[in-house]
Amino acid sequence: MKPKVLITRRVPQPGIDLVAAQCDVELWDSDLPIPRATLLEKVADKDGIYCLLTERIDDELLDAAPNLKVVSQMAVGFDNIDVPACTRRGIPVGNTPGVLTETTADFTWSLLMAAARRIVEGVEYVRAGHWVTWGPMLLMGPDLYGATLGVVGMGRIGQAVARRAMGFGMRILYTDAQPIPDAEKEFGAVYVSMDQLLAESDFITLHVNLTPETYHMIDAAALKAMKPSAILVNAARGGVVDHDALVDALRTGEIAYAALDVTEPEPLPADHPLVHLPNCIVVPHIASASIATRTKMATMAAENLLAGVRGEALPNCVNP
Ligand code: GLV
Repeated sequence: MKPKVLITRRVPQPGIDLVAAQCDVELWDSDLPIPRATLLEKVADKDGIYCLLTERIDDELLDAAPNLKVVSQMAVGFDNIDVPACTRRGIPVGNTPGVLTETTADFTWSLLMAAARRIVEGVEYVRAGHWVTWGPMLLMGPDLYGATLGVVGMGRIGQAVARRAMGFGMRILYTDAQPIPDAEKEFGAVYVSMDQLLAESDFITLHVNLTPETYHMIDAAALKAMKPSAILVNAARGGVVDHDALVDALRTGEIAYAALDVTEPEPLPADHPLVHLPNCIVVPHIASASIATRTKMATMAAENLLAGVRGEALPNCVNP
């Protein structure tokens, strides 16, 4: 009998095809998340679950899935999964690291440049019919070239972002749990305290996992410590930034601009102040959304799932 698996959303077809070739697949064939109650019901007879960061994988779900052999998430981040709870039950958890590094770094730069050079405001200005002449002081912003970039979290994605900064002649500061000698050698990045990074960076980009330690790491005090001209970019996890404090900082000019791919909560309600502030850009968690990368993520998650239902080691496992 084929293993029974649940895929919790319509994902790129090659991922579904790989799983379907070897498993009895139940697909939540929708662009919207599976309702929690339905999810709990559908996992009852499943050997594997192929999930997204929109599903909470916790004790309640694991209790509802007595046959479960693997949780395979189509994402690199896994803060929605209670990994210790899976580990206690001997259930491996798969993720999709590496493949989205360059794509996410590209997108981080898209946000950074769009904020600095006020691309979204420019588009809105033209669409609203306000463009009547060339303006000598119209929509001015800071230069990237020669500015200081502060990278919070010099992991795979932080390093890919920093590598791109070399082309902009930027000075690179970074924080992490410990110095990363390779980053210092390759991009001349300088390991500094968080205080120094906040005080000296023109652009601050976040690349940490969301953990109890990083939750609201960028709070009112951190925002106050930034330059009034600072631009904050978050393509990590929304919970790293205290959004109430960010609204205040953007309103009062404590910092100049924010560009967010991730928010807390997701989705951010359409009437949230961050959606409407002229000095904030919010996009719907799309940093890894290149066609090739999302397709590769879908097939990597499929490979993790297949290994898990066969009882083999997952190619990418967060709790080996
Ligand atoms: C997306 O945010 C991911 O973690 O892959």
